[in-house]
Amino acid sequence: MRNGVIAIRRDGTLALMNDEAYRIFALTRQAGDIGRAFADVLRKRPDVIRVLGGAFELRHLPNRAELRLKDLDRVIGYTLSQVKDGGGQPTGAVMFFKDLTQVEELEERERLRDRLASLGEMAAGIAHELKNPLAGIEVMAGLLKRQVPDSVDAQSLLADIMSEAKLANAIVVEMLEFVRPLRLQVERTVLADVLHQAVTLAETKAPRGKVSVAVEIPAELPVIDGDHHQLCQIFTNLVANAFEALDGKGRITIAATAGVVEQDPAFGREPEEPMPIVVVDVADDGPGVPENLTDRIFNPFFTTKPQGSGLGLAIVRKIVDAHNGWIDLSSSPTAGTCFRVTLPVSSTSEWFK
Ligand SMILES: Nc1ncnc2c1ncn2[C@@H]1O[C@H](COP(=O)(O)OP(=O)(O)OP(=O)(O)O)[C@@H](O)[C@H]1O
Ligand SMILES: [Mg+2]
Repeated sequence: MRNGVIAIRRDGTLALMNDEAYRIFALTRQAGDIGRAFADVLRKRPDVIRVLGGAFELRHLPNRAELRLKDLDRVIGYTLSQVKDGGGQPTGAVMFFKDLTQVEELEERERLRDRLASLGEMAAGIAHELKNPLAGIEVMAGLLKRQVPDSVDAQSLLADIMSEAKLANAIVVEMLEFVRPLRLQVERTVLADVLHQAVTLAETKAPRGKVSVAVEIPAELPVIDGDHHQLCQIFTNLVANAFEALDGKGRITIAATAGVVEQDPAFGREPEEPMPIVVVDVADDGPGVPENLTDRIFNPFFTTKPQGSGLGLAIVRKIVDAHNGWIDLSSSPTAGTCFRVTLPVSSTSEWFK
């Protein structure tokens, strides 16, 4: 963030006002501004006139003070100093300032994150407390089952109790995973290894049946900065979903490509080098996601499956976000579903921070 600077002379004329100052005060530079009375140039900003006007009267000039420009809905942080001649007499004053509006927004976001973090902590606490009684129910139902070997009814009821307890426990474990703050262990990660491992892991989560899986990775795909384990979880969840959608028959294609994205000038930043990225498509030729559900499938606990917890894609999104990447969905009943995960090659980039 650049500084705004305004300098005035002892006689009240404007000596200097830089572009950032004009921008922050939403004024347009006019020929002849320099040398005119500052109170005239700044007449639309009376609060600023008041601050500058005090520059020769106040004994202690404000250092790092804040000023709210109400009509602009802007907050600036400023420092005021006098300029003195050789004999120590003030000949002018300078105001340095910064637009703090963005800083305030960042702080607000930080506060929101803190709130979510404590909510997550609470959920984690509850989930943790539930784990023990659930394990207890499962173990005791198992013991009871052995005590009534001859009662067919009791056997089947107890088997149900055990499988329900197991299911509840799986949800609790997944929920713990979801609410736990993500700490990435970033290392140089070979995506080919991640993707092959993910297919194997997905087979343990969902039945593959006769589904064919093609993994297409160009040899020159760059190594990326990422958390191997977490990235693996992204693709395990996506492939498991595809297995479930395909229900034993069909085709999954996992294709990775390297590319760059141009900086969007709409971000209002300095033009930067294009950012190198890796794109991974996980596509299946299954039934697709109904259009009215596409907004909801990433929500925690949204599921259309009787045994699903609905956390799979929420976790995917969280891990992708943590890597400063993004995920898109395209789907149709005829073409199937494709999840596109885009990840920056280098985590040191400042592009989307
Ligand atoms: N490849 C896909 N094809 C069609 N629908 C999908 C696909 N992937 C996800 N969905 C839809 O998105 C929903 C949410 O998926 P998500 O992985 O978050 O939860 P889930 O698979 O239902 O449960 P789990 O927590 O066990 O993963 C699914 O219930 C399904 O309706
Ligand atoms: Mg899932």
